[in-house]
This record gives sequence, structure tokens and C-alpha cells, in this order.
Amino acid sequence: MKKIALTGIKPTGILHIGNYFGAIKPALELAKEYDARYFIADYHALNTVKDPDELRDNIRRVAAGWLAAGLNPKETIFYRQSSVPETFELTTILMAFTAKGLMNRAHAYKAAVQDNLDKQNDPDAGINMGLYTYPVLMAADILLFDSHIVPVGRDQTQHVEMAHDIAQAVNFNYKAELLRLPEASIQEQVAVVPGLDGRKMSKSYGNTIPLFAPEKELRKLVMRIVTNSQAVEEPKDPEASQIYLLYKLFASPEERQTLAVRYRAGGMGWGAAKEELFRVMNRELTPLRERFDAIMADIPALDALLAEGAEKARDIAGATVARLRKAIGID
Ligand code: ADP
Ligand code: TRP
Repeated sequence: MKKIALTGIKPTGILHIGNYFGAIKPALELAKEYDARYFIADYHALNTVKDPDELRDNIRRVAAGWLAAGLNPKETIFYRQSSVPETFELTTILMAFTAKGLMNRAHAYKAAVQDNLDKQNDPDAGINMGLYTYPVLMAADILLFDSHIVPVGRDQTQHVEMAHDIAQAVNFNYKAELLRLPEASIQEQVAVVPGLDGRKMSKSYGNTIPLFAPEKELRKLVMRIVTNSQAVEEPKDPEASQIYLLYKLFASPEERQTLAVRYRAGGMGWGAAKEELFRVMNRELTPLRERFDAIMADIPALDALLAEGAEKARDIAGATVARLRKAIGID
């Protein structure tokens, strides 16, 4: 019996290269070893995305992105969170076992409060209950599927620990192993992908390179990467240049070696380095982009595939909720 890996991605924007190398690619690697359950956390996205057309479009694009990146829906259960209503029933059950104090300590909530205080706003300004109870919904996502491991970025480890603690509180109360205790799995070797301005690539910084950008846009973005004022003839340190750091993600070992030598020798300007980056990036991303475009061209097929995944997910989720209902006395 394979162990279970589960993760969700919030459709709050379109996928970028940081998401691909930091989350999607490692999760797809893991799916070779584990029984994988990957989903689109659309109700989590509702906390921030309030425009229906935008949310609808994000959901489809993120789903198509996973498939274009290589998710095999025959082997991985792939679904939308919103298609599994058992999630919301389990959330309600878990609420009764979740200390309010635990939610007060959640990083995302605390950061939002701090931000308000810094701006001398009311501490609760702009904070909805969806943000406050976010970790409980996420715990339900995880615990519903008997997950052993949850591959996430470092910023999400606290949420997985909370899911673990909430499950423990349930098990303790009923003196039974009703819920499996999950562990976060952080890909230590995954580097932070730099954005156009050298900071971490993130949609909140507006410095992203979309994973499926058309060739023309990709080229434009690569040419916009911020560089320093070193002259062409100066020798350059490859590891200190975000052009090279991005290049490493796409190039072959020989290509990496060659470009590093050119950097150190001097005589290569930033423009030439960007051309080289664009060449390998476009080469590696073109097949993904073509698959993505093909999937997006047939939305009914994509929706049908997600509906099939939801059916499989609901079989498992239904069993978990039935087990819980019996244990708690609501059956
Ligand atoms: P964003 O910062 O653009 O809002 P999210 O927070 O939605 O991205 O991230 C989704 C997933 O992608 C997380 O697992 C996160 O760790 C990963 N990720 C996002 N940006 C990067 C990056 N620049 N480098 C590596 N991983 C990233
Ligand atoms: N909170 C996660 C993020 O912001 C997304 C998510 C929702 C998730 N439910 C999950 C991740 C369950 C792992 C498991 O990236």
C-alpha cells in the first residue's frame, strides 16, 4: 500500500515559474511514489477573489496548468475542493475541536492584523472569517483523505501542524484513531525562484513570469529583468545574477557550464545573457504551453475530467465523514 500525499493550490491568480518549480514539479515527482490527491482549493481563493469571472477563469487555468505540467489524472485523484461537499461538513465538525487561540496564532491572520496596526487601522479591518478560519478548512482538506504527507511551501507548514493538532484533539476526545495525523513535506532542495526585480517571484510583488506566457510576452518579460550597471567587458558572478539563477532551472548541465564561463570571462553584456535565457526558457516551456492551450481550448472536457476526479474523491471523503458522524453521535 502506497502512502498518501495530498496538496491543494489556491486559484488566486495565474501560475508562474515560481509555482512550477516550487510546488507543481516537486508534487508531480512525489506522485510517482505516493498515492497522490491534488486539488484546486477554490473556496480558499474566495477569501481574496470576489469577481466571479476571474475566479472561474483562475480555476480552469490552474487545473489546466497541472495537467499541462504532467499530472496524470488516471493515477492522481485530481478535483476541485468545491466539488467535495464533505469538506464543509468535516470543517463544521473540526470547528468544535479547534481552539480560538490556535487561530489567533496563525501567521497569515497575524500578519493581516499587524498590517492593520502598522497602518493605524482597526485591527480587524478587511479581515473576513474565511481568513480567520482558513486553517480549519485546510485541516478538513487534509484530514478528509487520510493524508500521510502534505507537500507545501515553508509558509504553509504551520497550517499542516494545525491540522495535525486538530486531528489529535478529535482522536483524544473519542479515544480512537479516527483521523490520520499528517506531516508537512518541504522540498528542502527547492530554491526560491527569483522574480523580474530579484525579489522572490510572487504575484503579490507583480514580478512574475507566467508559466504559459505566449512567446512574445515571454521575451518581453525576460528583457525586463532588472540588472545592475556592470559594463559589457566586466567579468560577472553568475550566482549573483537572477538571469543566471533562472537559466539554471531550464538549461542542461553543459549549457549552464558554458554560460558560467562566459559570465566570468567578461565581454558578455546583460542583453546577451537575456537572449540566452529566453532561448532555453522558450525551448523548455513551448511544449507545456502547447499542452496548456490545447486543454484550455476544450473547457467541457476539462470540467468533465475534474468531475470524474471529484467522484473518486467523494468516495473516500464520504467514508471519512460517515466514520466521524458515527463516532460523534450524529448518525
Ligand atoms: P504567490 O507568492 O505568487 O502568491 P502562492 O503563495 O500562491 O504564490 O504559492 C503557491 C505555491 O508555489 C506554494 O507552494 C509556494 O511555496 C510556491 N511558490 C510561489 N512562489 C515561489 C517562488 N518564487 N519560488 C519557489 N516556490 C514558490
Ligand atoms: N493554503 C494553501 C496555500 O496557500 C493551499 C491549500 C488549501 C492547501 N488546502 C490545502 C495545501 C491542503 C495543502 C493541503 O498554498
